Amino acid sequence: MSLLHMDTKLKGRDFLSLKDYTAEEIVYLLDLADFIKAKVKNGEPYEVLKGKTLGLIFEKSSTRTRVSFEVGMVQLGGYPLFLSSNDLQMGRGEPIRDTARVLSRYLDGIMIRTYNHNDVEELAAYADIPIINGLTDALHPCQVLADLQTIREYKGHNLKGMKLAYIGDGNNMAHSLMIGGAKMGMEVYVASPGEYNPDSHWVDIAKEIAKESGGKIILTQDIGEASKKADVLYADVWASMGQEKETAERVKALSKYQINDALIKKAAKDVIVMHCLPAHRGEEIADEVIEGEHSVVFDEAENRLHAQKAVLASLL
Ligand code: CP
Ligand code: NVA
Repeated sequence: MSLLHMDTKLKGRDFLSLKDYTAEEIVYLLDLADFIKAKVKNGEPYEVLKGKTLGLIFEKSSTRTRVSFEVGMVQLGGYPLFLSSNDLQMGRGEPIRDTARVLSRYLDGIMIRTYNHNDVEELAAYADIPIINGLTDALHPCQVLADLQTIREYKGHNLKGMKLAYIGDGNNMAHSLMIGGAKMGMEVYVASPGEYNPDSHWVDIAKEIAKESGGKIILTQDIGEASKKADVLYADVWASMGQEKETAERVKALSKYQINDALIKKAAKDVIVMHCLPAHRGEEIADEVIEGEHSVVFDEAENRLHAQKAVLASLL
């Protein structure tokens, strides 16, 4: 398929989950992200969204997502509007379906970060403009697109058969890594204590995708099995946004699910260590690991900017 054809195929689409994108479309977005990154590094403008506006709705905190979307939109020649849900009528109960139809009359796209994944689905169903999922309790696809870009930079473009071990809470990151990894034909291990396993709904979806791509999705409680010869070790917080009250019990249940030097020794020699950030050093990841030679977390954070610009340039 020609690149031009792909470009028209992506225009106007939502970006709620990588499950809705073919492997070919994901690779196209990753290639475009690499191209855009090179442009930034060479100081060459890439202003393909002149005159376009993107609304950014946040119901949860953010450093990376907010700043990378705002800066990304400006670098593409467009205009970002930060919309705190506290200030929107939506925060006072205006229905999502009305908000969707009103904002569609003003904006060219919306990125939303919220709790309930169904709210994002509803926004997308009623809006006439692309809706981008900037994290829900269920999924974080923008992060995984940047993660795949980072893995390609360190490990080469052939992701098929590569082993990624996610250690910890079976949360939105675990779900999205399973889906994105399965699309790319990777072997994704999720090691978590039984009660914090990923949601079976997303596991089933990822397993279906893996069947087609030749990838593997394996859930285990055994961090040794998961990390054995792993090419990528991945950590995320034990208590996600909205789960703060459960922190004490989660820290107790997940205390062995930490990426530390002992775990690195089980992995491949050239393993890369990833974390979507923010990190809690001494909990899901040891300080010496996040600061150590295998850590790629700041390149990973940078790639949020480039990968999301690829999404914006393609969809808007
Ligand atoms: N990784 C990530 O989404 O970071 P923020 O919560 O800072 O946006
Ligand atoms: N699982 C984390 C990811 C933060 C980027 C959370 O939802 O808080």
